[in-house]
Amino acid sequence: MSDIDEVKARTDIIAVISARVTLKKAGRHWKALCPFHSEKTPSFIVSPERQSWKCFGCGKGGSVLDFVMEYEHVDFVEALETLAEKAGVKLERRVADTPESKLKEKIFAANHLASEYYHYLLTQHAIGEKARQYLKTRGVTDKTIKTFVLGYSPNSWHGLLKYLQKKGYDGELLEKAGLVIPSRNYYDRFRGRVMFTLKDHRGNVVGFSGRLLDPDAKEAKYINTSETLVYSKSNVLYGLDVAKAAIQKEGGAIVMEGEFDVISSFQAGVANAVAIKGSALTQGHVNLLRRFADRLVLALDSDLAGDAAARRGIEIADRAGLDLRVASMPTGKDPDDAARENPSIFKKALKAAEPIYDYFITSATKRFDPKDAFGKRKISDELLPVIAKIDNPIVQGHYVKKLAGALGVSEDAVGDGMRKLARTQGFGRAAEGGKQELKKGRSRGENLGLYVLAILLQGKTVDLYEELKESVAITDFTIPAVRQILEHLEHYLKEHPVFLIKDFADRLPKELTPTLDEAFLWDVAGLLDDQERLSKEWTKALAELKRMSLRRKITDLSKKMSEETDTGEALRSLTRELKQLDNPR
Ligand code: CTP
Ligand code: MN
Repeated sequence: MSDIDEVKARTDIIAVISARVTLKKAGRHWKALCPFHSEKTPSFIVSPERQSWKCFGCGKGGSVLDFVMEYEHVDFVEALETLAEKAGVKLERRVADTPESKLKEKIFAANHLASEYYHYLLTQHAIGEKARQYLKTRGVTDKTIKTFVLGYSPNSWHGLLKYLQKKGYDGELLEKAGLVIPSRNYYDRFRGRVMFTLKDHRGNVVGFSGRLLDPDAKEAKYINTSETLVYSKSNVLYGLDVAKAAIQKEGGAIVMEGEFDVISSFQAGVANAVAIKGSALTQGHVNLLRRFADRLVLALDSDLAGDAAARRGIEIADRAGLDLRVASMPTGKDPDDAARENPSIFKKALKAAEPIYDYFITSATKRFDPKDAFGKRKISDELLPVIAKIDNPIVQGHYVKKLAGALGVSEDAVGDGMRKLARTQGFGRAAEGGKQELKKGRSRGENLGLYVLAILLQGKTVDLYEELKESVAITDFTIPAVRQILEHLEHYLKEHPVFLIKDFADRLPKELTPTLDEAFLWDVAGLLDDQERLSKEWTKALAELKRMSLRRKITDLSKKMSEETDTGEALRSLTRELKQLDNPR
C-alpha cells in the first residue's frame, strides 16, 4: 500500500471534517453548510462509505486530503503530513527526483550559500564597514541583522561568482538562480548593496533584494532577483519566515510596503508584519497569508482608495473572506519612520486600523466635499463600484446605509445608483439576477441523468436497476461518464447479487470516481425515506429521461432529413413512441 492509501485507510473522513464543520446525519450521508462558499441551506455532503465529500453549491469535492488542502490552505504534501501524523503513519521521505525539483534544490543551496556570504561580509569583514554604519544610522540592531540574515554585496563584479564557483556551482546554474548576469563571462547581479534575504514560509532562500548604499548612485534604489524557478515577485512576502509564528499566534498579519518597514516594526515589538515590496497585493500573497491568518491590516504608503491596482488587491483579499483593515500612519511617514520615531504611537495607529470599507468612505469624504453636489457625485463615482462588489449582502447593506448617511441622501438613492451601475457595467450582486442552478454548467438532461443515477446508487440498487432497464436504455443518458458507470453496474450486478458501493467503486476506473461521487453524494435522503414518493418520483424521472432522449433523437433526425430521404420512417416511428409515452394506453 502506498503512503497515500495507508493514510487514507487509517483516516476517518467524518472525524476530520466534523472537527472543523458541524455535520448532521442525513440518511447514509452527513450534511453541513459548505465551509467554502456562503450559503443558507446545506449543500455540503460527506459520505463515510465513499470516504469522500462534495458541495453541490460550489462544486468542490474530493477525498479527505482534498478537504484538508482546501480548508487549511495547504498543498498536497502538507495535507498528507498533517493526516499522517494524526493517523500515526510514518511517511517514507521520498527524495524528490524529477529534474525540475533537483534543479530547485540546487538553486536553494546556491542561494543559501550566497546568503551566508553576504551576511559574513556585513557582519565580519572589513569590506562591510560602510554598510554596517548605514544600518546603524537606520537604527538596525545586530540581533535584527542576524534574525533577518541581512548582508552586504561588495562593489565588485565577480565576488560572489568566484566564491560560489569555488564551491562547485557553475555560472549557468547561478544565472538560473538569478545571482549572476551573463555577458562574455558572468558577473554579480548585486553590487554595493545592503542585502535582504528573501525566504519562503518554509525557510528556503528563494532570492534577494538589495538596497543601494550610495545615495548619489544613478541605479535603482532597490533591485530584486529576476524571476526564477523558485522566485516570483508576486508570490513572495518579505519577512514571512520570521513573522509566521507571530501571524499564527495573532491570527492576523500586517502588510507593509518595504523591507525596512518590516524590520523597524519588528524592532518596535510588532512581529507579525510582512512586505509586498512595493507591488500590489496579489492572489499569490493572499493564498499564502490565509494559511496563517484570517485578518489583514494594510499599512501601506499609497492612498489605497485612489489606486486601481491596490483596489484589485483588496478585492482579492475580500473574496478570500479575510477581515481587511487599513492602518493610517501619521502624515508623510511610512511604517519604518513611524515605528522608529515613536513605537507607542505606531502601535496605536495599527490598533486603530479601520475596516476597509469604512476607510474607503473616510478617504473619499476627506478628498471631496460631501455637502455640495459635485462632491457627492465624485464620492459616489468612487464608492458605488466598490460597495457594489461586496460579496456579503448584509455587509453590503451596512455600507449602503453608511454611504447614504455620509452623503445625506436616502438609502434608496444609493441602492438605485448601484443597480444602475450593475446594469451598465454588469457586475456586483445586483447584476447576478436569478438564483444559482443546483449543478453549475450542466444541462437539464445531464442533471436528470445524474439524478437518476443518484437514486439508483443510494436506494435499493438491485431492484431499481431492474425497473430502470424496463423503461430506458443506457444510451438515453447524455453524460458519457454516467453511461460508463451504468455499463459497469450492469456487469457488476450480473456477478454480484448484492450491491456494495465500496466494492463497486473499487472496481471502477479512477476517472469515473468524480462522477460516481457526484451522484452518490447527491442529497436524496429525504426522498429515499418516503417509499411512496420515491416510487412516483422514480417513474416520473425515468419517463422524463426517455422523453428528452426521444426528443433529442427527433431533432437529430430532422436535421438529417434535409440531407437524406430514407430517415422518414425512422422519424415516424420515434414520434409514435413519444406520443405513446405522453398518452399511455
Ligand atoms: N522597491 C523595489 N524597487 C524599487 C523601488 C522600491 O522593489 N526600485 C520596493 C522595495 O521593497 C521598497 C518598497 O518597494 O522597500 C517601497 O519603496 P519606497 O517607498 O520607494 O522605499 P522605502 O521602503 O521607503 O525604502 P527606503 O526607506 O530604504 O528608502
Ligand atoms: Mn522608507
